[in-house]
Amino acid sequence: MAVLIDGKATSAKIRGGLAEKTIEFKKKYGYAPGLAVVIVGDDPASKIYVRNKKKACDEIGYNSFEYALPAETTEAELLSLIDKLNKDKAVHGILVQSPVPSHIDEKKIQAAILPQKDVDAFHPVNVGKIMIGDYDFVPCTPAGITELLDEYGIETCGKSCTVIGRSNIVGKPMAMLMLHKNSTVTICHSKTPDVGAVTRNADIVIAAVGKAGFLTGDMIKDGAVVIDVGMNRDAAGKLCGDADFASCEKKASYITPVPGGVGPMTITMLMKNTLKAAELLAEGE
Ligand code: GUN
Repeated sequence: MAVLIDGKATSAKIRGGLAEKTIEFKKKYGYAPGLAVVIVGDDPASKIYVRNKKKACDEIGYNSFEYALPAETTEAELLSLIDKLNKDKAVHGILVQSPVPSHIDEKKIQAAILPQKDVDAFHPVNVGKIMIGDYDFVPCTPAGITELLDEYGIETCGKSCTVIGRSNIVGKPMAMLMLHKNSTVTICHSKTPDVGAVTRNADIVIAAVGKAGFLTGDMIKDGAVVIDVGMNRDAAGKLCGDADFASCEKKASYITPVPGGVGPMTITMLMKNTLKAAELLAEGE
């Protein structure tokens, strides 16, 4: 039976630490870190994320600024808001909730955010910095996963790690972080002919495919660490991950549950990046 990696408890511990650091920050600079969250349209899942981000800001002691724009907002209007937020001294982190409506070029939006305020780490400058191992911000989900590995004392040096999924938000930066943590990294994706043949050799498997129950127990080796990034709904509408929990848990040494594993860490890492942005901007003044 695997040890359950508790993302909720780890997240609460980190948020507690951030709240303490925020008190220090306010004493030193006389203002609170500020996060601006922009949402375009009314995607229900996005609305929940945004609400939770605001709650986290309130809990830790940051200012939060929410911009809920109608779905018809033009790219030019959104770019103009970003320009305003880039210049706003009370805003230290800017996040445009993804996905944006299809008439807006998301890459253009990501590149318009000042890299120093890019708490998602989606700007090409920040992506490049991750590649060379000299970074201030890491995308929130991969950052949350490395925190969990550290918290549970899971050795990564010299271990083989397979990441399933090659998205810009999770798969690619995750692979790079594991490389920086001295793992031997393989990335599997939709064109990999036999994913199981690769994952069966891995000490650590990170599943970020977006397919419920994709990673089954017969695809992992005994004692593997299973990190499940999936947030899927099964046929009954229940939240479930990319790993088939019942079969993986029997063979794994550690496993993240869904919900309660990687999920709670994501917003916490956004909060960590926001404080970092505020500190770096304050020090640069
Ligand atoms: N939509 C789902 N996850 C994320 C995230 O981490 N950042 C942004 N900007 N949008 C998202």
